[in-house]
Amino acid sequence: TAMAIIKEFEEKCATPIGKLKQVADAMTVEMHAGLASEGGSKLKMLISYVDNLPTGNEKGLYYALDLGGTNFRVLRVQLGGKDGGIINQEFAELSIPSDLMIGTSEALFDYIAAELAKFVAQEGQDFQLPPGRQRELGFTFSFPVMQSSIDSGTLIRWTKGFSIDDAVGQDVVAELTRAVEKQGLDMRVSALVNDTVGTLAGGRYTNKDVVAAVILGTGTNAAYVERAHAIPKWHGLLPKSGEMVINMEWGNFRSSHIPLTEYDHSLDTESLNPGEQIFEKIISGMYLGEIVRRVLCRIAEEAFLFGDTVPPKLKVPFILRTPHMSAMHHDTSSDLKVVGSILKDILEISNTSLKARKVVVQLCNIVSTRGARLSAAGIFGLIKKLGRDTLKDGEKQRTVVALDGGLYEHYLEYSKCMENTLKELLGQEVSESVIIEHSNDGSGIGAALLAASHSQYLGVDE
Ligand code: BG6
Ligand code: GLC
Repeated sequence: TAMAIIKEFEEKCATPIGKLKQVADAMTVEMHAGLASEGGSKLKMLISYVDNLPTGNEKGLYYALDLGGTNFRVLRVQLGGKDGGIINQEFAELSIPSDLMIGTSEALFDYIAAELAKFVAQEGQDFQLPPGRQRELGFTFSFPVMQSSIDSGTLIRWTKGFSIDDAVGQDVVAELTRAVEKQGLDMRVSALVNDTVGTLAGGRYTNKDVVAAVILGTGTNAAYVERAHAIPKWHGLLPKSGEMVINMEWGNFRSSHIPLTEYDHSLDTESLNPGEQIFEKIISGMYLGEIVRRVLCRIAEEAFLFGDTVPPKLKVPFILRTPHMSAMHHDTSSDLKVVGSILKDILEISNTSLKARKVVVQLCNIVSTRGARLSAAGIFGLIKKLGRDTLKDGEKQRTVVALDGGLYEHYLEYSKCMENTLKELLGQEVSESVIIEHSNDGSGIGAALLAASHSQYLGVDE
């Protein structure tokens, strides 16, 4: 029966606190391994070449591109320098046509550069740079990149919904620069950053206590400030700050303590990147709705939840998106009206019984709870690595984690569960000094700030 299938699924998804602590410990072990050597761990612990975070002194006109989340954004930010803050900020938001996500590198970068050129062409006289000065851009590129400097790096692999073979192994800055030149635009990419690193930089600009950033969106990942001494694989000069931002690429984390079900295994096998991004596949927005769909499909087949036959739309991969799931999960009407209409509009299943709707809500709850609790375990593992899971000599050291991403922002049951679980893991006393701060779209601004602090004109008077 439906109840039996759900019960079994729920048991397999269970995340008791003891298990979460094991996941967190496994995370810190892998962090050490990834910092020790290249290829030492599933966690790549990528060196970002960001050894200084924004101070507030950044000044001038900078641009940013933000690629890899739900939306593609082009930004222009005017920075006022010390005490000036952000004087002006404007952005255009677009989506990447789905054929470009699985096409060629050239087509993707041509599209991006064309949108950037359009954006620049539309700006008014107010945004002129001093004569002879090149425009500069921070590029938020939210995929794993092996950087060789702040403004270069090769794509290790695609994640999420992207899969463009000929871009793998290529320098993404070189690709973008070529496309920008093709548009006749004179602009230099002066910083290449992951969205977590951009979010960390944007977060630090507004709050000095920000030491880490986490994305819970289409994908999931974290970045944090590490002591350069604690990075054995770093053979470069010791940065003056003594610090280096690390992009963990935690989406690729896996551990035997993570509860996986047959649905997760089949989702993984049929995905664009089988065997990879296992943590991401049970936590992040791209996949949660799809897991629910897979379980629902099974219940429809074996327990006839929606009548004698399985509704055809229910068999379509990724048709049930996480925003649908979230809307159904938050339905408080007594007859679960919202659930009914989503089942009807999206899956073309009409006249569903209240009992069937309740099953759907229950499933949403199981899947989102597992994801939220595991993401809390990841954050807890990171806080442990920072040594901030205990109070030092009774002193209250504030630890702020900047968080961004559509999942965190819009799926309130999820974010509430994540935050409550983190409190539970930290314990009452420590949890009072750990703050999760929503950093709305901070990564683009972060990239612009890093473009400013790595400008070729640094020190040149305006
Ligand atoms: C945005 C950031 O706010 O959140 C992006 O500007 C980031 O850089 C994105 O990739 C992640 O969330 P989502 O839900 O769009 O994948
Ligand atoms: C994926 C990407 C990672 C990014 C995350 C959030 O995990 O590999 O680079 O930070 O999604 O967008």
